[in-house]
Amino acid sequence: MDLQNKILKRTAKIGIVGLGYVGLPLAVEIAKVGYHVLGIDVDKSKVTSINLGKSFIEDVSSKELSPLVAAKKVIAYENYKICGKCDIINICVPTPFTKSKDPDVSYIVDSGKEIAKYLRKEQLIILRSTTYPETTEKVLLPVLEKTGLKAGKDFYLSFVPERIDPGNKIFNTKTTPVVVGGVTKTCTKLSELFYAQFVDKVVAVSNPRVAEMSKLLENIFRSVNIALVNELALMCERMGNIDIWEVINAAKSKPFGYMPFYPGPGIGGHCILIDPYYLAWKAREYDFHSNFIELAAQVNENMPFKVVDRLFEIFGENCVCSKGASLFIIGAAFKKNVEDTRHSPAIKVMELLIDKVKKISYNDPYVPMFKIENKVFKSVPLTAEALKKADCVLILTDHNKYDANFILNHSRLILDTRNLIKNRTSKKVYTLGNKS
Ligand SMILES: NC(=O)c1ccc[n+]([C@@H]2O[C@H](COP(=O)([O-])OP(=O)(O)OC[C@H]3O[C@@H](n4cnc5c(N)ncnc54)[C@H](O)[C@@H]3O)[C@@H](O)[C@H]2O)c1
Repeated sequence: MDLQNKILKRTAKIGIVGLGYVGLPLAVEIAKVGYHVLGIDVDKSKVTSINLGKSFIEDVSSKELSPLVAAKKVIAYENYKICGKCDIINICVPTPFTKSKDPDVSYIVDSGKEIAKYLRKEQLIILRSTTYPETTEKVLLPVLEKTGLKAGKDFYLSFVPERIDPGNKIFNTKTTPVVVGGVTKTCTKLSELFYAQFVDKVVAVSNPRVAEMSKLLENIFRSVNIALVNELALMCERMGNIDIWEVINAAKSKPFGYMPFYPGPGIGGHCILIDPYYLAWKAREYDFHSNFIELAAQVNENMPFKVVDRLFEIFGENCVCSKGASLFIIGAAFKKNVEDTRHSPAIKVMELLIDKVKKISYNDPYVPMFKIENKVFKSVPLTAEALKKADCVLILTDHNKYDANFILNHSRLILDTRNLIKNRTSKKVYTLGNKS
């Protein structure tokens, strides 16, 4: 039976390399339509947890995962030996940047080398990790073709960018369209056919480069627009008499040609912050400097510093001595309703404040603890007493679980960087982009 038939009959065995925020929801969605999913992760704790039917990701419930594990529709492994059994392998490994913010595609290369050991005819390899244009053809393809097998003839290779938005209750793996770009037409067709089995809409493009670039365009679009509103927020703050949040609410009443983005303490996570650097790095290879990307990064990465400046201004206005101040931080995750703290601006702000104030406590219902260098921070209960005790409450992540009125009623002074507290009459509430 050839690969096309196996896909249509759902007898194809599906490998997923990297079972994190992208890989695990994907595994569940594929298993739900009847395929057997064989997951691989180098993190033993994730493999054990999955095989016990326990999810470690907010968007995948254990209730959803455990029946699939019990039915052996999802099995996780620590090594790549089962790759030979897989007909299709999705690569969902991290693509971080280095200390100097250059792309680090070593995870793609490492997993490619492991897959190559078991590569056989009629296998389809799909790269899902976000990366710079040409990675599929110039980085992964040579690793796989070193086996002597030829892409498009012996095996198939495509890039299918992941678009998942953790915490999004409306758009999930099934309802978010995917873009598919194969190294040959057959590669594209097979990837399109496979993804059409469990995703509502598949958009085929002419090659992996277009698919790679389209993903970067989407994320850079967000980064640039967030930078724009961050800059406008700082401008409104300088002017002193315009509330940026009211401005955005007014602008978004326009039913066309405008899409709201919101200011905040900075950007984080594994995408919006990192991906623009991937493209800027690649562009330099062609003597091309992207002004928009650099400028957006500059504005967004400055925001945690601006939050600290604003906090000290507020301390000054309210006669709080910063060296003796105790702070209660609301939220540590990089955005609302998720547990992800990677590159979180909230943690960056705390890092900047550690030596500048007397005490920092935080609450985040999704983040029980985190470390800054060797210092361990543990989430404390959000009680009236804890709020009252703090000289200032600093809101850095606006999880839906937070009760804005409770925070407002029990705090002495608040700097709200997310517009969680909508009340503009209270003199104790300061926001970014509005002089209270
Ligand atoms: N998280 C998101 O919201 C999101 C959205 C769209 C795209 N992406 C992209 O998807 C990719 C994965 O991101 P993520 O958030 O799922 O990362 P993650 O860190 O949550 O998951 C990656 C997993 O890969 C595993 N891993 C690392 N090296 C491995 C190897 N050599 N072999 C097998 N497993 C290995 C890690 O242990 C981890 O469990 C990245 O390129 C990211 O930019 C992420």
